[in-house]
Amino acid sequence: MTRPRILTGDTPSGRLHLGHLVGSLENRVRLQDDHECFFLIANVHAFTTRADRPDDIRRDTIEVVRDYLAVGIDPARSTLVLQSEIRAIPELTFLLAMLLPFARVMRNPTLKAELADKQLEQHSFGFPLYTVGQCADILAFRADLVPVGEDQAATIEMCREVARRFERVYGGAVFPVPEVLLGRVARLAGTDGVHKMSKSLGNAIFLSDGRAEIHRKMRGLYTGRQSATDPGDPDSALMQYARAFVADPDRVRELTDGYVRGEIGDGALKAEVADAIDAVVAPMRERRAAYDGPRGEAAILELLQEHARHAGAVADETLARVKEAMRLDLRTARTEERPRSALATS
Ligand code: TRP
Repeated sequence: MTRPRILTGDTPSGRLHLGHLVGSLENRVRLQDDHECFFLIANVHAFTTRADRPDDIRRDTIEVVRDYLAVGIDPARSTLVLQSEIRAIPELTFLLAMLLPFARVMRNPTLKAELADKQLEQHSFGFPLYTVGQCADILAFRADLVPVGEDQAATIEMCREVARRFERVYGGAVFPVPEVLLGRVARLAGTDGVHKMSKSLGNAIFLSDGRAEIHRKMRGLYTGRQSATDPGDPDSALMQYARAFVADPDRVRELTDGYVRGEIGDGALKAEVADAIDAVVAPMRERRAAYDGPRGEAAILELLQEHARHAGAVADETLARVKEAMRLDLRTARTEERPRSALATS
């Protein structure tokens, strides 16, 4: 019995935060049992914006793996994919790029939003190319399902398009058309109360933050409320966190009612939500401790290498099928010859 396949991943640009958790990480942990999972660390894509900082990218790559293991991604059940180790991905990127009109790539809302957010005066050629590379990441593993945050959905749509086009042009039934799976919270606000939670905006609560740090950040959370008895805004970031992280739904209802009626002050609610967040991430701190320090790093590097062998074999198999469909495969021509010559000599 084959399980449906999942591929998703993260660009190592820093530690992962609560937005990643509710957007995609929770889904991954949950789906590990009945799906064949591949979780990719997009370390090549990290060079789109930080080509001059290879040491930072290396450090962040290890940190992302620490976050994965901390959150409960189980290396015994799921495969970690270090992007730079998979030769088939850049090759597939090149081939898929021929099936995507240049204007189509540049129109992708995910790409446009990133270019706007990062306020890049000028970007490398590789920046827009990474979105085609992301299609290759997914298709190299012939994934059925891609759990991502809402911001990535448009790129997954482009991936679906290119998968269909490949089939129409070359046939071969190589790729499933992958489905996107969004998290339970589409867009988690940051502690500035306005923007999406993001490392680069400095408004993130990290999965690796300690209890005191979580409380400190929560105390500084912006709610826009003038006094403790003002009616609280049910759409504020604070209430969004309460809904996302307070485990008991009855308590969430109580808090919402009290907050909206002006009976619960910001300070009390912030402290309670901070405790709820801490309860979610505390087990992660424990699991992370096993991969701390240089010994932890060595274990991670070994894990990545071992997993890359399996991942590389899967992606190589895809590439062979792709090349066969595209009539690029000399080997297929030869295997058709071989039985005949084998017959002739025996
Ligand atoms: N672009 C994604 C991000 O920055 C990371 C990523 C790379 C990815 N390849 C992927 C996500 C393939 C899903 C599938 O978050």
